[in-house]
Amino acid sequence: MDTIAVNRNFMKSNFKEMDNVESDQMKGLPQPALEKEFDKNNKIIDLITIEKIKIENNNLIQNIKNRKSYRQFKDKSLTLEELSFLLWASQGVKSVYERNNVSYATFRTVPSAGARHPFETYLLINNVDKLKRGLYHYLAIEHKLLFIKEIENQNKEIAAATLGQEFTAKAAVVFIWSCLAYRGEWRYNIAAHKPMLLDAGHICQNLYLACEGIKAGACAIAAYNQEKVDKIIGVDGENEFSVYLSPVGKY
Ligand SMILES: Cc1cc2nc3c(=O)[nH]c(=O)nc-3n(C[C@H](O)[C@H](O)[C@H](O)COP(=O)(O)O)c2cc1C
Repeated sequence: MDTIAVNRNFMKSNFKEMDNVESDQMKGLPQPALEKEFDKNNKIIDLITIEKIKIENNNLIQNIKNRKSYRQFKDKSLTLEELSFLLWASQGVKSVYERNNVSYATFRTVPSAGARHPFETYLLINNVDKLKRGLYHYLAIEHKLLFIKEIENQNKEIAAATLGQEFTAKAAVVFIWSCLAYRGEWRYNIAAHKPMLLDAGHICQNLYLACEGIKAGACAIAAYNQEKVDKIIGVDGENEFSVYLSPVGKY
């Protein structure tokens, strides 16, 4: 099959083929962790909980109407409260479901096939009050932010990694979502991949709508250099790899 045929096939549902496949969950193998392990020695920043966050524009109809992609941003910082809101809206955990004394699933502000939630959120922070520039990881279950490291020439690197989309270098923060594919494969094996990509769309849509709430703009990005983005966020590119990005900044 040529590449287009292979890719079209990928877009189709292959749940029927699961009749002949036993997933690791069916085999009784332990499930992967709901959240990526992190170095507890790194600096961890408390985020503001949704109950304490005040949003300027919380009219859903207006926010849906106004939603669009922004590629120009003011040189203006986001507050930690605003960033907390965007993280909560895009990947926030509402509850952890325990089954047989194991943390079996998270329920979040976005849907996910089988509640597998196979993504981690990385942030390239450029201009957020009280936070130094660099790479961060959102600890969704804890609703905290983990500082990972400073990135040399961060703005130049992200513009190059997004194939010269220079506006990414002007954003206050760039959201980068990675996929830990086994979280979905453990349950759905060969049928996991299409649903996982569908899941990613919901995350970014919630980010767009949440941005409208704080007079900020987002722009979904799928045109990027896989190796370069994976290198920036420090993932292996096999078990975990970037799938989607969005810069965010004030307009
Ligand atoms: C999956 C996906 C990938 C996209 N990738 C890019 C991108 O790499 N660069 C870009 O400038 N816009 C990108 N966009 C934004 C679209 O160009 C934009 O949504 C479209 O032009 C419609 O404009 P609107 O979002 O303002 O309604 C992407 C959008 C989606 C949904």
